[in-house]
Amino acid sequence: MDACLELKGVNKSFGGIHAVRDMSFSVAEGELAGLIGPNGAGKTTIFNLVTGVYDVTGGEMEYKGANINRLKTYQVVALGIARTFQNLRLFAASSVLENVMTAAQYHHRYSFFEAVSHLGRWRGTERAIRDESMGLLERVGLADRAGQPAGTLPYGLQRRLEIARALSLKPSLLLLDEPAAGMNAEEVSTLNDLIVKIHEDFKLTILLIEHHMDMVMRICHRVVCMNFGALIAEGPPRDIQGHPEVLKAYLGEEE
Ligand SMILES: Nc1ncnc2c1ncn2[C@@H]1O[C@H](COP(=O)(O)OP(=O)(O)O)[C@@H](O)[C@H]1O
Ligand SMILES: [Mg+2]
Repeated sequence: MDACLELKGVNKSFGGIHAVRDMSFSVAEGELAGLIGPNGAGKTTIFNLVTGVYDVTGGEMEYKGANINRLKTYQVVALGIARTFQNLRLFAASSVLENVMTAAQYHHRYSFFEAVSHLGRWRGTERAIRDESMGLLERVGLADRAGQPAGTLPYGLQRRLEIARALSLKPSLLLLDEPAAGMNAEEVSTLNDLIVKIHEDFKLTILLIEHHMDMVMRICHRVVCMNFGALIAEGPPRDIQGHPEVLKAYLGEEE
């Protein structure tokens, strides 16, 4: 299978903190892969490097065979990479629907004049964005909440809204940063189903960061585990689960 995302010897330092050390791994086209590791392992930093939030200190990153080292965030989005955030980034006072529509506008073009005058292409486009966004809310089970301010949704539903918003960018690679954080067991289970379903229906490649191993083990095809910024193991879930270095990393965290 062709690589969708490939990291080759990627490094990132923040002053004296070596957050990512010589990380090499790839995510195959169409794969649902997991990225796990204890707190502070460097998982979110990997997403920030791939999405152009930070520049790499060294190494190469490729998306579908093309180097993305120097790209800005908007260029990464244009290539088809979308993400969600560990710390939610919703517009709390805007409605659930508006939150998706703001992102969905990305793929529609109308002039500033048309937008402020509500003329020309704007009217038809506005309707198309609304329909499209409602469709996505249905997919994530939030259609009945469309008019509610996003900030008043229970935490688990806000995380689903973030996924809908990322999907509205029409990505082919979706990066999910701890989408189950703050959820109870039942919410995690329905989230699992949702991720598996959108992976299939939208023909996505997904890289899922998760701190809790059981979720990743249940739905991922392959798991990459890192600790202290470096790769410690990579393979099918059942191999990772019993991997001595992985167990050590997670046990060390509980001490
Ligand atoms: N902008 C930053 N400035 C300084 N240090 C950072 C920054 N971002 C992350 N780090 C450090 O990099 C390390 C990895 O962090 P992070 O990638 O958030 O870990 P994870 O997501 O695996 O919990 C941590 O030590 C963290 O403090
Ligand atoms: Mg993180």
